[in-house]
Amino acid sequence: MNRSEFFKMIGGSLAFWYMNPSFVRAMANPEFTKALFGEDFHWGVTTSAYQIEGAWNVDGKGESIWDRFSNHEGHIKDKATGNIACDFYHRYHDDLKLLKNLNFKDFRFSLAWSRLLPEGSGKVNPKGIDFYNRVIDDCLALGIEPWVTLFHWDLPQALEDKGGWTSRDILGWFSEYAELCTRSFGDRVKHWMVLNEPTAFTTLGYLAGIHAPGHRGLNKFLAAVHHASMCQAEGGRIIRSNVPEAHIGTSFSCSLIEPHKAKPSHQKAAKRIDVMMNRLFIEPSLGMGYPVADLPFLKKLDKFMQPGDMEKLKFDFDFIGLQNYFRVEAKPGIIPFIWANRVKPDRGKVELTEMGWEVLPEGIYKIIKQFSRYPVKEIVISENGAAFNDVVAEGRVHDSQREHYFEQYLKQVLRAKNEGVNITGYFAWTFVDNFEWAEGFYPRFGIVYNDFESQQRLVKDSGFWFRDFLK
Ligand code: BGC
Repeated sequence: MNRSEFFKMIGGSLAFWYMNPSFVRAMANPEFTKALFGEDFHWGVTTSAYQIEGAWNVDGKGESIWDRFSNHEGHIKDKATGNIACDFYHRYHDDLKLLKNLNFKDFRFSLAWSRLLPEGSGKVNPKGIDFYNRVIDDCLALGIEPWVTLFHWDLPQALEDKGGWTSRDILGWFSEYAELCTRSFGDRVKHWMVLNEPTAFTTLGYLAGIHAPGHRGLNKFLAAVHHASMCQAEGGRIIRSNVPEAHIGTSFSCSLIEPHKAKPSHQKAAKRIDVMMNRLFIEPSLGMGYPVADLPFLKKLDKFMQPGDMEKLKFDFDFIGLQNYFRVEAKPGIIPFIWANRVKPDRGKVELTEMGWEVLPEGIYKIIKQFSRYPVKEIVISENGAAFNDVVAEGRVHDSQREHYFEQYLKQVLRAKNEGVNITGYFAWTFVDNFEWAEGFYPRFGIVYNDFESQQRLVKDSGFWFRDFLK
């Protein structure tokens, strides 16, 4: 090689590195490292049973409302189902190894109620217990801490047939399930979360009818809200009594709500949406009751209350899981009872994800600050992430938008932490592209790409970004 060839080569590889977006950003941000979050900070990914496991009718698993809903033509885009999903049921071992290779030390997943209790209550499915034992043991062998969510939306169909969340009997069914889970796995699992985003599953599944079980009606919604709220606290109590040294939380969908215009009518609309989306489940758990004063139709919840319920709605959680995806701009509108509407973000003006959600890193900072005004002991960011239009090219997925997203959101998390908010962990949504509920498989949220035909996993650039960041 002569001198000029040598310099050409050096120049070529330098040019490669300079053109590499991660490299450019790393150079621009040499100071942004995981060490800034502290030694004990938890770094993980979140998944949920129905979205990844598949094996919907394998080894004795019973039907869930999502099995029924997705196999019923017309509910899900492209007629997708979670019957196979990411086949995590059979591939968990390789997936956990991959997670470990990306330097994550925490894994949040949910248990499929109907895999453990096929009829929702009564007979236990030993093969379901075996499966989660294997997942938990694998995590521990790999040095990954398991974080278990009891309920991430996949109610057993047998219970739905008896009224599901609208029936007060769910308190007994849920307690039986929580007892089983804590007694089976509590010797090894220390981090527990009771519900995943109760606002989302009650509004989408019981009011708007676009998620399973597809109900539309105010009474069903209010009944589901009260019973889920009761189970949220009862689940906490059961974990506390069965799991020594448990770290107990529950997760909320937390979205910044702002008035579209600085007018009193817009401000009032924003307040009403804020009650529905952010305050409905946390306030009763803190002993503040339902936020009826700011949204009078919630007075109708009284119909489902029994003497002593107010007290039972409370539980002293060790942490709350804050899950953030978007901001809502509110204006007065025609949605019954709330009389407010969301202003659709304009793609021409702001960056949007594939879900049509605005990318607004400062939104997570503001919503953390809002929730930190409650007397909560600890906040874990238990979900945050984005779907973008990922393309595989020559064996790589250059999802620089997602990489940028995580970096910018994490900086805002750090900003809140540095201002004194006790934030102890961050979980990206999600590990591998999965079944995105009513949207089917199209929106890809993973830091690992999944080819749903072959079930081949391919780490995206954002996954490599995390690997390097967490090194
Ligand atoms: C849910 C996830 C969902 C994600 C993205 C969260 O509300 O917990 O199950 O996939 O949002 O939509």
